[in-house]
Amino acid sequence: MDTDATNPSLLFLFLLLLLLGRGLSLVAAKSYQNLTVGSSLSSSGPNSSIFSPSGDFAFGFWPLDANSSLFLLAVWFNATSPQVVVWFATNNTDPVQVPAKSTLQLTQASQLSLFDSNGQEVWSPDAANATGVSLLDSGNLVLYDSSGAFPWQSFQNPTDTILPGQSLAENSELRSKMSDSDFSPGRFELAVQGDGNLVFYPVAVPTGHKYHAYWASGTQYAKMLQLVFNSSGSLYYQVENNNQTALTSAAVYSPTDFYQHATLDPDGALRLYIYPKNNNNTKSTDKWNAVGMLPANLCQTIQADSDGGAAACGFNAYCSLDDDQSKQLKCECALGCKFVDTNRTYLGCIPDFAVQSCEQYQRSQYLFLEMPNTDWPGDSYEHYTPTDEDMCRASCLADCLCSVAVFRMPDCWKMKMPLTNGQQGMSVGGKALIKMPKTDASLPNQGPQNPITIVKKDRNTLILVISALLGSSGFLNVLFIIAAAIVSFSFCNRTKNKKNQIAQTMLRSNLRVFTYKELEEATDNFREELGSGGFGIVYKGALAAEFHMAIAVKKLDRAAAKESEQEFTNEVRSIAQTHHKNLVKLLGFCNEGNHRMLVYEYMSNGSLTSFLFGCTRPEWNKRAQIVLGIARGLLYLHEECTTQIIHCDIKSQNILLGDNFIPKISDFGLAKLLRADQTRTNTAIRGTKGYVAPEWFKNSAVTAKVDVYSFGILLLEIVCCRKNVQTEAATEETTVLAYWAYDCFKDGRLDLLVDSDEEAMFDIRRVERFVMVAIWCIQEEPSLRPSMRKVAQMLEGAVAVAVPPDPSSYISSIV
Ligand SMILES: *[C@@H]1O[C@H](CO)[C@@H](O)[C@H](O)[C@H]1NC(C)=O
Ligand SMILES: *[C@@H]1O[C@H](CO)[C@@H](O)[C@H](O)[C@H]1NC(C)=O
Ligand SMILES: *[C@@H]1O[C@H](CO)[C@@H](O)[C@H](O)[C@H]1NC(C)=O
Ligand SMILES: *[C@@H]1O[C@H](CO)[C@@H](O)[C@H](O)[C@H]1NC(C)=O
Ligand SMILES: *[C@@H]1O[C@H](CO)[C@@H](O)[C@H](O)[C@H]1NC(C)=O
Ligand SMILES: *[C@@H]1O[C@H](CO)[C@@H](O)[C@H](O)[C@H]1NC(C)=O
Ligand SMILES: *[C@@H]1O[C@H](CO)[C@@H](O)[C@H](O)[C@H]1NC(C)=O
Ligand SMILES: *[C@@H]1O[C@H](CO)[C@@H](O)[C@H](O)[C@H]1NC(C)=O
Ligand SMILES: *[C@@H]1O[C@H](CO)[C@@H](O)[C@H](O)[C@H]1NC(C)=O
Ligand SMILES: *[C@@H]1O[C@H](CO)[C@@H](O)[C@H](O)[C@H]1NC(C)=O
Repeated sequence: MDTDATNPSLLFLFLLLLLLGRGLSLVAAKSYQNLTVGSSLSSSGPNSSIFSPSGDFAFGFWPLDANSSLFLLAVWFNATSPQVVVWFATNNTDPVQVPAKSTLQLTQASQLSLFDSNGQEVWSPDAANATGVSLLDSGNLVLYDSSGAFPWQSFQNPTDTILPGQSLAENSELRSKMSDSDFSPGRFELAVQGDGNLVFYPVAVPTGHKYHAYWASGTQYAKMLQLVFNSSGSLYYQVENNNQTALTSAAVYSPTDFYQHATLDPDGALRLYIYPKNNNNTKSTDKWNAVGMLPANLCQTIQADSDGGAAACGFNAYCSLDDDQSKQLKCECALGCKFVDTNRTYLGCIPDFAVQSCEQYQRSQYLFLEMPNTDWPGDSYEHYTPTDEDMCRASCLADCLCSVAVFRMPDCWKMKMPLTNGQQGMSVGGKALIKMPKTDASLPNQGPQNPITIVKKDRNTLILVISALLGSSGFLNVLFIIAAAIVSFSFCNRTKNKKNQIAQTMLRSNLRVFTYKELEEATDNFREELGSGGFGIVYKGALAAEFHMAIAVKKLDRAAAKESEQEFTNEVRSIAQTHHKNLVKLLGFCNEGNHRMLVYEYMSNGSLTSFLFGCTRPEWNKRAQIVLGIARGLLYLHEECTTQIIHCDIKSQNILLGDNFIPKISDFGLAKLLRADQTRTNTAIRGTKGYVAPEWFKNSAVTAKVDVYSFGILLLEIVCCRKNVQTEAATEETTVLAYWAYDCFKDGRLDLLVDSDEEAMFDIRRVERFVMVAIWCIQEEPSLRPSMRKVAQMLEGAVAVAVPPDPSSYISSIV
């Protein structure tokens, strides 16, 4: 009985193979199935999709709404979060949308067909004799026939996206979507043209008319143009087989380490997106990142011309790019204007006030709202140079046709609405002055209710009905100034004591005067302490009459209380004249006997200190945004407000975080309040240990550069998420962050600074830029430190950053 069949080891082997085979087929059945003749997918139920063998991609019914009442037939990245649609079925360019209970079937006639819930065929690819449908690991959806050939494949019928391994041959296009969630054909097309030119066009919706190109490869008449995203992750176009030109300046990311796709986005840029593949442990912080785009300067590139309305943003709007890596294009309205359609901001804006007319035009009835760094280049009908800002304002005010003046020393341009091709950004410079009627009750009203109503009684008298004193929007404040001016005109003759004059001055500068009693009530007798700074303690409060608006009340300590009334008033007024997104807004003040208090808007997200050094490390992108915001706020204080304000105490405790974690500088303008008492001794140094510039200790002048120094320290803290001085540091070299950072930079080991911070590691070039800027800022010699304008430009990447010297080299070389 010695036969092979009973050989125990062979039997074992046989069983093992059987088991393995079963196991494999189970795995395959779970994650991968081809559609074969007769089988189908249904929009509801378990068989709504099939997967690529790796499980990276899925093909099937993609729900368009939370309710799952409409579906696309699509291919998407299944393994990433969020999942991203890379192909969808279209009829011409329109997405095919089907209701619930629709089915996709490979019919007995070897035809793939999509049937809606009524059994009506709504889509079918142009291919006959298909014996199966399969989703390949590349993301390519293919129909195959009995010979193994692919009579149809999604890679040859792209929508808005291409994947590694996919090429576009001549006479094919990508068409952008309308928006991220709206799959209908959008406003841009990328065409691989038969004439050998690769071209980006704005497209009219819905006619499909193509306007003038906004970017072209310039390879017209070249032979055999192809747009290639090859399987090792290089994105380029090539002519004549081998002449390749990279499409974006992005580095090449390996498809073994990253999922990637290149998409013509709704804003008209072709962006390369990557997502880390962590086969072993997917992290919640993983996300799609844009690492390259074409064209890079969308706002300047997509411009209206004589051919029609192809501007990136429509009339009376301006264009800017998001600060973050994706650089998404944003359209925003000129002050006083509102979107024609808030869901489609590119359609432009219309004035939200009564438009001036040349009949009965009275210049005294208009004022200007300022928009820094904004311009509508090429839109002017009159240009003066050289001139100054006062002349520019006066000239526009006197002209009933002028609706906007743009002033950029020494030039003044006058413009009429509607305005086109608006731009805003640090590189624009200058300011736009938007003219609007002073007393227009239809001024934009963003508060919950309209707090101020102005009733016109007769020509000379206005009666103010003030239902609530202070709104939170700038426009209401403008109204308030006017209201206050009117109040002061009508009452100043009657009551002429000193207090009242001061109150009037304050009122003109847009501030509310509080009584001690009011603030005592608002803060519930100074119960909840928010913090204490160099100038006094801050309490939380709420104004009952103003919809319980939260406020922060700073009780100034005695040193400030010693100042004369006039000085106090002047300081407070100069603070009140600052208006910037990155500054905490002063709402009002109290000045009664010994009680001097400042009332600020309340910041819900606390200070940067608790944000940075709390339990969990905040996201790198958020931190980078915060850096840019602080730089802009400081730039404004130094160079853009009426009188220069040196902060003197920049530190993380003085940066508060508003909604969306927008950083806001607090405590500015207060350094001057204490000036009278100040002598140049160490005890009077108005700064905080660790952030103080060396010149405070020397006999040299204190300039705005002290803030640049402190900002440099703060920047390092934000990059590394640790305090400048850390006594419990691992080693002596790492105790002082500023020294350690320079050492790391010098040794090319920036990775040590952002150790275990994968997001930052991933963005190491920006980390490097930030650290280099910080090292420039903390140069011991003040004149070597850049201005805040230069700092902001370097951080944004608008200008290159030179290699910084050792912060103490200048000093040591002259000692
Ligand atoms: C789903 O598809 C599998 C394989 O084609 C099949 O065995 C199963 O019965 C289907 N389930 C439903 C609910 O149709
Ligand atoms: C596809 O994604 C879903 C949702 O993330 C997940 O539950 C499912 O396991 C994935 N399928 C495959 C085959 O990876
Ligand atoms: C979901 O769809 C049903 C019918 O398809 C509709 O009656 C219902 O209002 C929808 N719900 C939402 C939240 O859209
Ligand atoms: C495709 O669109 C055309 C109009 O563009 C329409 O006439 C036709 O019925 C559509 N086809 C299907 C299958 O819906
Ligand atoms: C489909 O198959 C039939 C018969 O095998 C053949 O005659 C026909 O040419 C095929 N059609 C295509 C488009 O390949
Ligand atoms: C599915 O289709 C692909 C592509 O034709 C083929 O290579 C593969 O063997 C098929 N898989 C199954 C389980 O039929
Ligand atoms: C992709 O293109 C790059 C750049 O031309 C080349 O180095 C690489 O070998 C190509 N990869 C493949 C798989 O063709
Ligand atoms: C490759 O393209 C560049 C510019 O498009 C052109 O100057 C050069 O002659 C081309 N080289 C070849 C070999 O065709
Ligand atoms: C995943 O684990 C395998 C073996 O456990 C290892 O070789 C591989 O490097 C790991 N991959 C990643 C991305 O960590
Ligand atoms: C904008 O979109 C929202 C939600 O999609 C919708 O409720 C609203 O009606 C839209 N507004 C306009 C003006 O189309």
